[in-house]
Amino acid sequence: KKGLETTFIGETLHLHSTLRSTNAYAKENLSKHREGTVILAQEQTSGKGRLGRNWSSPMGGSISMSVIVKPRIDFAKIPLLTQLTAASLVKALESIADVKIKWPNDIILNRKKIAGILIESEFRGDSLSGIIIGIGINTNLNKHNMPDSFRDKASSVKAETHTVVDPNALIQSFLIHFENDYLAYMTTGDPSPFLSLCTEYSALIGKDYWVTGKDHKRKATVKTIDSFGRLVVTYHDTNVTEAINSSAFSIRG
Ligand code: BTN
Repeated sequence: KKGLETTFIGETLHLHSTLRSTNAYAKENLSKHREGTVILAQEQTSGKGRLGRNWSSPMGGSISMSVIVKPRIDFAKIPLLTQLTAASLVKALESIADVKIKWPNDIILNRKKIAGILIESEFRGDSLSGIIIGIGINTNLNKHNMPDSFRDKASSVKAETHTVVDPNALIQSFLIHFENDYLAYMTTGDPSPFLSLCTEYSALIGKDYWVTGKDHKRKATVKTIDSFGRLVVTYHDTNVTEAINSSAFSIRG
């Protein structure tokens, strides 16, 4: 908290040594948490990833953080907050390592995942009661402490750069960038500043990938990210260009 140069993001900070999941904790008392509340845990025992996956967050080597926001925003624009968050993370990490964004929510380093974002929206009836932005960063994990299943796809900043990361400085820098970009977006409604950063740092644009939907798998060239934060691809078989939504598809090299 000391030296955190933000106005409302992180004004209330919950610091725990162990939680099941910072996102789950945020969700439990969402109505009581003010906008900007940040929840941090030194380890999670039941961390959640996207698409129902588990997320491993061991003590001493990872950052597990949730930021609560309560914007007035169209539902269609909620995925943009993932891009906004990814852009803030890149800004916080770029002085430490040569990171890239694997749309929609992975931060990669040397082609391995070192951070992920999980955004969860909560509704009361039809109205949005809050959005929980979960961020997991593998800062100082040692390679041999990672689960086998993850070893060739995931890594940590320390394992890749051989330098120890100061977690407090990284959290602080992220929150400052996030607050700036979030306030700017809420004021102007213009996502292009953070979307252009996501495009610039994209690990996918210009490359060919397999796009897997409900009942197909097709080769496509990734073109850009559109103003809704969707990935624009051109399929090889039909030459048709389409904007795809992160929830419906997965992308593989
Ligand atoms: C993913 O890449 O699938 C998203 C991973 C998100 C992990 C973070 S850690 C803090 C927050 N709490 C959770 O349970 N998950 C997110």
